[in-house]
Amino acid sequence: MSRTARTRVWTVLRDALVATKWLAAGLGTGLAALAACALVLGVAALSLVGVGLLLIRPALLAVRGLADLERRRLARIGHDTPSPYAELPHAPLEVLRALRDDPANRRDLAWLPLHGLYGSILASLALQAPVNILREGSFPLWWTAVPPVESNALNGFVHIGSWTGAWLVAASAPLWAALWLFVVPRLVTPQALPGIRLLPPHPDIDLSERVARLTATRAAALDAHAVELRRIERALHDGAQNRLVGVAVLVGAARQALHRDPAQADAILERVQTSAEDALAELRTVARSILPPVLENRGLTGALSALAADSPVPCRTTVDVAPRCPASVESTAYFAVAEALTNAAKHSRATAIEVTVRRAADRLRVTITDNGRGGAAETGSGLVGIRRRVDAHDGTTTITSPTGGPTTIDLELPCGS
Ligand SMILES: Nc1ncnc2c1ncn2[C@@H]1O[C@H](COP(=O)(O)OP(=O)(O)O)[C@@H](O)[C@H]1O
Ligand SMILES: [Mg+2]
Repeated sequence: MSRTARTRVWTVLRDALVATKWLAAGLGTGLAALAACALVLGVAALSLVGVGLLLIRPALLAVRGLADLERRRLARIGHDTPSPYAELPHAPLEVLRALRDDPANRRDLAWLPLHGLYGSILASLALQAPVNILREGSFPLWWTAVPPVESNALNGFVHIGSWTGAWLVAASAPLWAALWLFVVPRLVTPQALPGIRLLPPHPDIDLSERVARLTATRAAALDAHAVELRRIERALHDGAQNRLVGVAVLVGAARQALHRDPAQADAILERVQTSAEDALAELRTVARSILPPVLENRGLTGALSALAADSPVPCRTTVDVAPRCPASVESTAYFAVAEALTNAAKHSRATAIEVTVRRAADRLRVTITDNGRGGAAETGSGLVGIRRRVDAHDGTTTITSPTGGPTTIDLELPCGS
């Protein structure tokens, strides 16, 4: 099997495993939501006779905790869902007022039964696939050993009483495997729909938060831009410009020596040539650091392989980005990886680096891990620069680097297709 085919198979398998994990988590929050429904109904009934009023606040807090758990799951499956809550007051009557005025509480309460019923049912249907691969696939091994009522297939719908039947059941395992590999990963988002619709902040509140966030990220983007211009200015000033000054001085000296001592003039001109070539090389480096042509020509896959090949620490890259992302997103991912590789070589004492770049729907996920000593902190300009660039795209940056290692930098960039 060729390398790309192997990568494809592995990607499909991993997608199915990851989808199964998140659907199982979704089933968990779904069942918890059903339980919470019962709790809310109980508290509502008790409130009619008065005592329940004291329980409204704890019940709402429990619902908020559950909704926040689901929000974290939504964020992990690619739907960033910030928590929208205002502080909940303590006095029972004020809690009731908050319930009336804060749309987040009402949206939570609407989400509970939807996710509890629809979410749990869809998740359990989807989880049938991996369970049945094992159950039906191994059917001939155990069907004779269980009581006749247990020897059935398709969740008890079909009773099996003969070896032919048993082998037919086993033959259905590849069908379940195909469902698991190709259909189950597509169910993760539909299963989470109630949360995707109801758990983000109410559009009005979301908008003002978003304006504040955009103002902050725009300032950061301008800052990052200024820092970048300063870096280019320094690189030109200290590199090419210095060398060209040298060239000018040497050409002057060569002209003076031309008639007096042609041999010396020739020696000077040789130095002029070297200096001019150096200046050219420096200019090329600066140009490449602004937007590497390899990124333009060969996309992230080629550009990151080139970076990995140049890395002094052995680096393995897995890049699966189809279709290509917008150029600004690609260049942000490229510079983040470049900085992380430089850091790993400079600070980490790592012996191996792993770079994974994957596109899942409209998010680009970049992970860079080194097995070094850890302790990366946003104290210099490099990591802060990564965060600013990513923030400017409305993405997220997570740096995990405990003392002793390993260091992992995780980026998520939205890349609308
Ligand atoms: N991969 C890493 N492993 C260990 N330490 C790191 C790593 N990356 C960064 N660091 C630490 O975090 C600091 C900040 O990094 P950075 O912002 O890139 O600044 P700079 O590289 O210019 O020092 C570094 O000085 C270093 O001490
Ligand atoms: Mg650095």
